[in-house]
Amino acid sequence: MKIIRTVSALNQALQPVRCNGDSIGLVPTMGALHEGHAALIRKSIDENRCTVVSLFVNPTQFNNQQDLQLYPRTPEADQQLLEQLGVDLLFAPPVEEVYPEPDRRQFDFGLLDKVMEGAYRPGHFNGVAQVVSRLFSFVQPDKAYFGKKDFQQLAIVREMTHRLQIPVEIVAVPTVREPSGLAMSSRNLRLTPRQRENASQIWRVLQNSLLHQGNFTPQELAARVADEINNIPDLRVEYFAIVDGYSLQPLTSWDESEWPVGCVAVYCGEVRLIDNIRYR
Ligand code: PAJ
Repeated sequence: MKIIRTVSALNQALQPVRCNGDSIGLVPTMGALHEGHAALIRKSIDENRCTVVSLFVNPTQFNNQQDLQLYPRTPEADQQLLEQLGVDLLFAPPVEEVYPEPDRRQFDFGLLDKVMEGAYRPGHFNGVAQVVSRLFSFVQPDKAYFGKKDFQQLAIVREMTHRLQIPVEIVAVPTVREPSGLAMSSRNLRLTPRQRENASQIWRVLQNSLLHQGNFTPQELAARVADEINNIPDLRVEYFAIVDGYSLQPLTSWDESEWPVGCVAVYCGEVRLIDNIRYR
């Protein structure tokens, strides 16, 4: 595996791949890699001749400086995992390489970023769009891989590629979970063993809510799920919304959507976790 720190070295490494017309898969990450990331990477290796993994903790998507500072960083373990998986190129640039000057672009995502993560983390998705659009222009991948765990991020990335007419196929990969059901996340490293156990109840409550779908409106069900999670020690719900999977707008009745998805953000102690579940 080649480890690359600059855009010019990246171009050099990709030149023969492009000349051959070989397909390039890109997996953007912020490191502290786990089996969720590995699932994206395996799929890319399966589907492309060359897989590039980017590892960059993007400062522009953190609306909270403390969260940026505390974001877990495990570069040696990451490198080892990527070698084992058989990744071709690891692109791990410093900030100046990605942003030689500040990125002042403001993206317009309509209503997609006015809800949920977009509402509670102002500027977050603008930062995601800034970095992902740059990574797309550096790597020019045929396919790029994103996890369904970050459901709204996936919708935003699709919308951005559509609006900017970037010729890349966005591939969505199902959420990988711990045996306990807890969605894998780099932030789980910051949980104590007891918090981790309590956090695993989030998925149990979400799954259980599937059984009650027929008895309640989406809003009633959402309120019950939030109450149930709030009753678990260490957990505090920031939002739970049942939305249409395309528009991301909250549903008032189940008939409004073919694709109802429940999306949750929960504080477990100081650590913010997200998860989602598909209804019907
Ligand atoms: P990061 O949190 O490192 O996640 C990188 C990719 O892995 C994202 O597409 C995310 O959805 C996916 N992922 C994380 N946990 C997963 C799990 N348990 N199962 C399946 N996929 C999972 O998301 C980001 O980084 C950043 O916002 C980024 C897109 C890299 C832009 O900076």
